[in-house]
Formats: sequence, C-alpha cells, structure tokens
Amino acid sequence: MTRFTFDAPTVIRIKRDGGALPDVAIDWVIDAYTHGRVADEQMSALLMAIFLRGMTDAEIARWTAAMVDSGARLDFTDLRRDGKPLALVDKHSTGGVGDKITIPLVPVVMACGGAVPQAAGRGLGHTGGTLDKLEAIPGFSAELTIDRIREQLCDIGAAVFAAGELAPADRKIYALRDITATTESLPLIASSVMSKKIAEGTRALVLDCKVGSGAFLKTEAESRELARTMVRLGTAHGLRTRALLTDMSTPLGRAVGNAVEVAESLEVLAGGGPDDVVELTLALAHEMLDAAGLDGVDPADTLRDGTAMDRFRALVAAQGGDLSRPLPVGRCRETVTAPESGVVQDIDALAVGMAVWRLGAGRSAPGEQVQFGAGLHIHRRPGEPVTAGEPVLTLYTDIPERFEAAVAELDGAIRIGHTAAPPRPLVIDRIV
Ligand code: URA
Repeated sequence: MTRFTFDAPTVIRIKRDGGALPDVAIDWVIDAYTHGRVADEQMSALLMAIFLRGMTDAEIARWTAAMVDSGARLDFTDLRRDGKPLALVDKHSTGGVGDKITIPLVPVVMACGGAVPQAAGRGLGHTGGTLDKLEAIPGFSAELTIDRIREQLCDIGAAVFAAGELAPADRKIYALRDITATTESLPLIASSVMSKKIAEGTRALVLDCKVGSGAFLKTEAESRELARTMVRLGTAHGLRTRALLTDMSTPLGRAVGNAVEVAESLEVLAGGGPDDVVELTLALAHEMLDAAGLDGVDPADTLRDGTAMDRFRALVAAQGGDLSRPLPVGRCRETVTAPESGVVQDIDALAVGMAVWRLGAGRSAPGEQVQFGAGLHIHRRPGEPVTAGEPVLTLYTDIPERFEAAVAELDGAIRIGHTAAPPRPLVIDRIV
C-alpha cells in the first residue's frame, strides 16, 4: 500500500489555488485535525479556502465520509419494541431563526410510533440550536451514554443528545466555523449535517432546507442544490433521505431565543401555537412517518389529543428536565414599537436572528455560555395590522448593555405598508 504523507500548508495551498483535494489529502487532514496534529489556525485557513473555492461532489462525499469515520457510527437495528424492529427516523434543519420545530416534532413522531435518535447541535451564527433551547429547561441534559440512548429509544421512542464522540471532526470544525465567518458554505453545511446524521444510527432522514434571509444559503437555487447534495449523501450511506425546501425569510412563530422557543413549543404541544409552527411540524411529521414506513396515525391528532405532549414530558423527564419549574426569562426588557400605522408586510429573519444573538442567546467565542432567558417575542407578524406606537417586538436579556446593539440590528427589519404583502408558501418544494 502506498503511504501518503501530507502537511497542512500543502493541503491549504491546493484548495487556495482552486484545485480539488485528493481523497488521501482529505482523509489525512480530517484525521490529523481531529487528533490535534493540524492546528486551529491551519484548519481555519483551509475552511476559508473551501468557503471561497467550493468543493466538487466527489470532494464533499469524501470529506463527509472522513468526518463520519472520525468517530463511532451507532447502530440500533438490533433494538426491538413489541418484538418488532424500531422505526428509526430523524429530522435535521440547515438552520433558521425561531426554528424550534424539532421540539414539538420529535414527540409527535414518538406518539405516532417512530423512534428518533437525534444528535442535535448548538447555535451556529445567527441561528439557534436545539441543544441550547432544550437545556433552558431546568435540569435537562443532552449528555447521554450510548446505553442510555438505546434504553430511551426502546422505552419512550426518542433520545436527543449532544453528538459527543459522533463525528468529532464536525464538533471541532463546527465550533471553528462559528467564529471564522465560514458557516455559509454548501460543502461545509452538507458535510456537517450529514456526518452527524449518518453516524447517529437513524435509518430514515428528513431534511428541512431553509431558503431566505435567515438561512445560511439565501437563494432557492443554492438551497435546492444543498438539499440535492444532502439527499445524495444520505442515500449513498444507506439512509432513506428526503428534503423539504421551506421559507426562512421571516422568523418561524412568535418567539425567538432559547427558553422562549421552548415555551412556544409547549403551546403547540397543547394544541395551540402559531399556525406556521404547527404547519411545518405536521408537514415534516408526515414526511418522517412516510420515510419510516409508518401509517395509520394522523400526526395532527397527537397534538389534539395530548399524546404528543405526554411523549414530550416523558422525553424531558428521561433526560433529567423538570417542566414544573419556570423557564428562565431575561431580567431586562425593551420594546420596539411601530413607527407608523398599517399592516406588517415583513419582518426580516436575519435581522431578528442577529438581534437575538446580540442579546446573548448565541455565542461569539468558543464554548461561551449562552443566556437561556435571552430572546424576543413578536407581537405583530407579517399580515397583521398595527397602530403607530404599538409594540411590535419585546426583547429580553440579563445584560441591558446588549440592547443598543440588538436594537441597531433591527433597524429597517420591520416593513409596514398599507396592505398585506402576498403570503409566501411555507413549504416551497420537496426533494427526493
Ligand atoms: N446544522 C449543522 O449541523 N451544520 C451546519 O453547518 C448547519 C446546520
């Protein structure tokens, strides 16, 4: 066997100059970075070169496979419930603003007979992360052992866990991308999402690919390409994979942040909540059940009859969370009022995501602790009437000095007109 040895400057130079990285160079750099033989500075330079130069499909496939191989690949196919193999299915979003959908969706799918092994992520850039949100529930822990994940899948039908030793290369690269302005890259998003999902042991996967200002890739064409790439990667690794392209030009629902999004998810699980959150939860649930070969239960029934709420309580309790204790709310608040009367035409998702990040709901340094109580409420959504001087947004944080920068992000973000703008479809397309 020929042994190739590389060094980081050579690999960086190939990509910097627009070349395609050979398979052996990809395997080497992912392994060397995972084990500390390539420095953060060097990986940062390589990530920026990938951001600027892109990758071929073959490079993305190899980079993803190398990230999967950087850790363990879980296998739950031996698990049984009532003598039958588990219907293992998961969902992942490419990142949005107010995107709390996993929180109501997982219990809906549990209540319909699915088993969800979810390796979830933390916030990235202006987008929130499921783990940061769920950890706002007092006592909730996402640090689960493999034995615990297996037990939960059999006993209650889901486990939401920090990826930990799964795709450890992604854990390091994800944290680096968050602080080096290299998040918005198709090859890096596709490989990040799919390495975790391939390693986590699901058999079927539904991807929610966001389109619009609050998404990492803004245009429909880019998101479509991302969706196709991820579906190809999943299929090549034996996962039944499909994707929905969904609108992310305005935040989902009326709550953006950590604890505030858990509270809104509880409203959905109680049979209420904002229409768009319910619509997307059910659209993704239908896809997940179909991909897992489950039929016979209407996911909407589980929100009406309380079975999804029961499953959520079971999931939170299994992971140490206590829903009887109040969710944290930022101690200080500030309102943003309507400058004129009319109808809200648009609220820009990116501006809201940046504002919430500035309030302290996300990180600007590696490992930083997020504020669980930081976030905002949207009182008037697009399509709703508003009177001059009425509050459109309420912002929350524990650190009042953060308001100035957050409010500055919102400058021009709320468009008010005489009539409502034509509604945009929430689900734009389906990619199989
Ligand atoms: N979710 C991920 O896991 N990775 C990304 O890069 C974006 C969203």
